[in-house]
Amino acid sequence: MRLEDKKEIYKILSDNTISTYDNEYNEFVADILNNPVVTSMKEYIQHGNTTCYDHCVSVSYTSYKIAKYLKLDAKSTARAALLHDLFLYDWHKVMEKKPLFEKHGFTHPQTALDNAIKYFDLNDIEKDIIVKHMWPLTFRKVPKYRESLVVTFVDKYCSTNETFEPLTSKIAKSNFLSKKQYL
Ligand SMILES: [Fe+2]
Ligand SMILES: [Fe+2]
Repeated sequence: MRLEDKKEIYKILSDNTISTYDNEYNEFVADILNNPVVTSMKEYIQHGNTTCYDHCVSVSYTSYKIAKYLKLDAKSTARAALLHDLFLYDWHKVMEKKPLFEKHGFTHPQTALDNAIKYFDLNDIEKDIIVKHMWPLTFRKVPKYRESLVVTFVDKYCSTNETFEPLTSKIAKSNFLSKKQYL
């Protein structure tokens, strides 16, 4: 990958504004974004204080922008990324006294795909994106398309930020308060 591509992707990742005014993005995903089964993901926390719905929107919009920049299938990327965690339960409450490969981390991509195909017509790229998004954890399910690799990477990036966001905002707040004492 060229250095300017890396710089542009870094710029896209650093810009965490989710544009609801992006006409093309909205056109691609409007039916999914407003579907009641999809909006029910607002009831579940995914990482930190971020709901499953907000997590999927972040992964979808960021992946869409990267796919568009790389001249990939941005529409399939945006749509599948929005559905990639449509497992529809609170994974924190699942008692996982199960064998390793039956735990949430390994099984939820297939659950999300099973749910997604009940409500939406998915093409091969979209199916691959959803069912392979936990790679390399699910090491046998290697992404077949570049679009799947984009979502796999962006999912990990967003998940890490969301997990540490409560801590980083706490640190930022305490720094602000301690600086204020010296003003
Ligand atoms: Fe996931
Ligand atoms: Fe995810």
